[in-house]
Amino acid sequence: MSLNKDFMWGGASAANQYEGGYDEGGKGLNAVDVLTNGSATEARKATWKTPDGEVGTTDLHWGPGEFKLPEGAVPQLVDGYYYPSHQGTDFYHHYKEDIKYMAEMGFDVFRLSMNWSRILPNGDDEKPNEAGLAFYDQVFDECAKYGIKPLVTLSHYETPLSLIQRFGGWKDRHLIDAFAHYAEIVMKHYQGKVQYWLTFNEINAMDMAPYMGGGLIDGSEQNRAQGAHNQFVASSKAVKIAHEIDAHNQVGMMLAYSAIYPYTCDPADQLLVMKAKQDMLFYSDVQMRGYYPTSRLKKYERDGIKLDDRPEDYELLKKYPCDFLSFSCYTSNVVTTHANDAKAAGNVSAGNITNPYLETNAWGWATDPDVLCLGLNELWERYHKPLWVVENGLGWADKFEDGKIHDDYRIKYLRAQIKSMEEAVSLDGVDLMGYTMWSAIDLVSNGTGEMKKRYGFVYVDRDDRGHGSLKRYPKDSFYWYKKVIASNGQDL
Ligand code: BG6
Repeated sequence: MSLNKDFMWGGASAANQYEGGYDEGGKGLNAVDVLTNGSATEARKATWKTPDGEVGTTDLHWGPGEFKLPEGAVPQLVDGYYYPSHQGTDFYHHYKEDIKYMAEMGFDVFRLSMNWSRILPNGDDEKPNEAGLAFYDQVFDECAKYGIKPLVTLSHYETPLSLIQRFGGWKDRHLIDAFAHYAEIVMKHYQGKVQYWLTFNEINAMDMAPYMGGGLIDGSEQNRAQGAHNQFVASSKAVKIAHEIDAHNQVGMMLAYSAIYPYTCDPADQLLVMKAKQDMLFYSDVQMRGYYPTSRLKKYERDGIKLDDRPEDYELLKKYPCDFLSFSCYTSNVVTTHANDAKAAGNVSAGNITNPYLETNAWGWATDPDVLCLGLNELWERYHKPLWVVENGLGWADKFEDGKIHDDYRIKYLRAQIKSMEEAVSLDGVDLMGYTMWSAIDLVSNGTGEMKKRYGFVYVDRDDRGHGSLKRYPKDSFYWYKKVIASNGQDL
């Protein structure tokens, strides 16, 4: 047996893609509530208004690149657009049914995010919205009924819209204390119900998708650097608060991890890999080691970036690093300095080069059978802190046939992923806490805003224009995962 007997199996989700109920129970709007849907070839758009009544949209590209709204424009709802997050797949009204499905699969843990603006509608209100607190109480009680532990992300791209409109997002230090206040409220309120917390989903999204990750309406390098700094400090404050409230609390950071391969053995390509890794691991270096890596400080110096920081920020980072490192991992990416015509189609990030050794899905994401073993080893060797795979899965346009979904391609993908993860544990001794597959139940795709790009073990009847009964149907992978959990990963 390779995995610990207390290894935690489960599935993951995010409020902005799943919860819905966007204007119910006193919830305020968040960053994603003003994003339209897109596709593999068409970017999602942020809708905005200017003070003199001009309305418009700005494309949101996933991948390195900057995002900037026109001068004076702030993100807002605009009539005539479809916003998929508003209903998600309606966990808000289906949580009992969905948690029952999770229990049937044998989940030990359910990863969900709390909608910050459901608790504090403007993000920095002094008093919490009681109806918002009550909603998650019901969810956690339902989980407890089946012995399922919640793993709660405090912010999964859900910066409250009001903070974006008033402060321009995470570039402003005001958000540090707003977040700490929010963390304190929920950590006190749910003491005894929630033990595992994550601060910021895919914190390195600050660079890859500055609006999504940091609510930045101007994603300049200066703002991204400040946004990251502010999130680091806010995260350390949350760790401090969590430990003071309850010594059992464990707080993780969350990194978007991808293995990065050189296309050729040209040393110039190896240097490119090294740079790409520095960009990605800068975030985990700060959150796990408690200080900035010199490569990033030098980069800021070269680029003329000046942080609005305080000496006490660095004391906090040092004193309150995260307890464990969680990460998402779906695929690997290829980079090269050579002119290359093997550009991947779809919404892939990093090098955008097709790996000739791997298959890809319809969105251009490579299905790499060894990526988890590589990632787990790399992160374990670098930090020697417990790890948790909190997202891994396959997006696919599932076919619904008479109430059945035969997703053997997903089973094949997951089988390889779990095998790779187990190898890292049994062969290399990686300390791995758990695995939450993305996603337990179908939900809206984050990158494209589509329903068509499905990940769940349970199919939800809903399409890309928001039509459908929202009825749930277990897929073939549902029954397969149940076996996997029952055998602690042995029966693949
Ligand atoms: C991660 C995010 O980037 O990948 C999730 O944390 C997201 O929110 C997941 O859904 C899969 O990406 P996508 O774009 O296929 O939904």
